[in-house]
Amino acid sequence: MAEESNPAPDAPEDPEAALAACRREIEGLRQELAETNRGVVALYGELDAQADQLREATELKSRFLAYMSHEFRTPINSIRSIARLLTDRLDGPLTPEQERQVAFIHDTATEFAEMVDDLLDLAKVEAGRIEISPAWFEMVDLFTALRGMFKPILTNPDVSLVFEHPDGIPKLFTDHQKLSQILRNFISNALKFTPRGEVRVTAQRTGAEMVTFAVADTGIGIAPEYHSAVFNDFARVDSPIQKRLRGTGLGLSLSKRLALLLGGNVGLESELGKGSTFSVTIPVQLKAFESEGV
Ligand SMILES: Nc1ncnc2c1ncn2[C@@H]1O[C@H](COP(=O)(O)OP(=O)(O)OP(=O)(O)O)[C@@H](O)[C@H]1O
Ligand SMILES: [Mg+2]
Repeated sequence: MAEESNPAPDAPEDPEAALAACRREIEGLRQELAETNRGVVALYGELDAQADQLREATELKSRFLAYMSHEFRTPINSIRSIARLLTDRLDGPLTPEQERQVAFIHDTATEFAEMVDDLLDLAKVEAGRIEISPAWFEMVDLFTALRGMFKPILTNPDVSLVFEHPDGIPKLFTDHQKLSQILRNFISNALKFTPRGEVRVTAQRTGAEMVTFAVADTGIGIAPEYHSAVFNDFARVDSPIQKRLRGTGLGLSLSKRLALLLGGNVGLESELGKGSTFSVTIPVQLKAFESEGV
């Protein structure tokens, strides 16, 4: 026997009532939306406060680094001067062992001074306080100065440092001290990580407005997975040679920031076991400081 079908319980009995139900539903949704909006606004406020705190913390960190590194300079320089006085035997003779120890004090203090200088520079870049003072200069002069600077440091007879004559490079209008600082970092790294072979410094025009400086070595090389990381603060690649060498891992991150300040960037090509080429590409003429001419 067929069952009698009941009308569906939610069948619309009255269009007016249905409309009212719809309105109630819409009102409910509107209230829910308003509440969500209030929540989002509150979240935004919280995010803003956190961003402010982060900015403040970064600024504090930069200021701390700047003050600390600045204050370290005087005592370090005293240690270096006293060591120099001793090795110059102004206070009498030294035994060979004493001379070795004093030389060690001097070298360690020099390394410490370099690290403090890097930290101070990083803090200044972060605080936006580094000053760029561009001027016109000849590339050859910069290479000559660098060659002179590295001559006393070239202690490994199996490695030669070659500066290729920069042919066809026009006069540059940029901050030559910052450029020199970047190249010094590249060259000292190359010498550090090249047990034998050659470190070659070149300059060449890339495009109408840019010039690229490259420091190519025949050293230990860097595996591809580390290529971008080496430019980060305190980045050091794990390798047997690395364990024997000192370094803070600040040189390349500072170089990258300086290159950006000069309107350019840094680059790296390297193959593990074959060597590395670090490069910096900058505009021939620093744009923000457009000058009237040579
Ligand atoms: N020419 C190179 N060949 C092989 N590895 C390199 C070379 N240059 C840099 N690296 C790797 O990149 C890391 C970071 O270099 P960076 O110059 O920033 O630091 P560092 O030389 O260790 O210390 P610092 O320059 O602060 O004294 C190095 O520790 C090394 O692992
Ligand atoms: Mg270095």
